Amino acid sequence: MNIIPYEPVIKKEDRIRLNKHKSMILWFTGLSGSGKSTLASILEEKLYCLGIRTYILDGDNIRTGLNKDLDFSKESREENIRRISEVAKLFVDAGLVVMTAFISPYRRDRYLARQLVAKEEFIEIYVRCPLKVCEERDVKGFYKKARQGMVKQFTGIDSPYEEPETPEIIIETDKITIEESVNNIISYLMIKQLIILKKETVNEYK
Ligand SMILES: Nc1ncnc2c1ncn2[C@@H]1O[C@H](COP(=O)(O)OP(=O)(O)OP(=O)(O)O)[C@@H](O)[C@H]1O
Ligand SMILES: [Mg+2]
Repeated sequence: MNIIPYEPVIKKEDRIRLNKHKSMILWFTGLSGSGKSTLASILEEKLYCLGIRTYILDGDNIRTGLNKDLDFSKESREENIRRISEVAKLFVDAGLVVMTAFISPYRRDRYLARQLVAKEEFIEIYVRCPLKVCEERDVKGFYKKARQGMVKQFTGIDSPYEEPETPEIIIETDKITIEESVNNIISYLMIKQLIILKKETVNEYK
């Protein structure tokens, strides 16, 4: 193959210095309706207020654009996550905190995503919620349709979800509030010194 990647002058380290924070992937995974999009969105608001540059890659938005050629077969799901992983890696290189909110049901795909960046740049957040609760929430009405056989290959119903074995963070959204969930993620990022709050903003989180 005749491919010779070019060497950019401005590198990730330069962008991190400019942004005054580290870049990383916050990889939300969990059943449909577990709360990935909700948490990513509120977390993004809070990080924005702290002057942290973020971007959310969210399931349905990507599937209507970049990945609109893919269906929900096992192969397409793998390709869906592979492309998202590569895009997320670009965002890390661009110096941002990128949040991915996809069911991402396969352990192997999440493992491959993790391998694309440095160890401390990948934080897997398992948004854990029992199927029964997700089904009661049925935010998009898909569980009902899946039970009726109108939607096929639906994760948790007729397609598997492989739980993370050692995620960095577990949020049990059937046990704690949205506010507590987001604060737990922020606390983790602070403890690991992945984000550093300025003095004047610390009080907000006490
Ligand atoms: N602690 C919590 N964290 C997040 N969401 C919660 C929590 N408690 C209740 N919810 C509710 O659960 C629902 C989660 O829906 P959401 O669309 O965020 O799920 P999702 O994981 O993004 O699903 P999908 O994979 O279908 O996009 C929302 O209606 C939200 O208000
Ligand atoms: Mg969502």
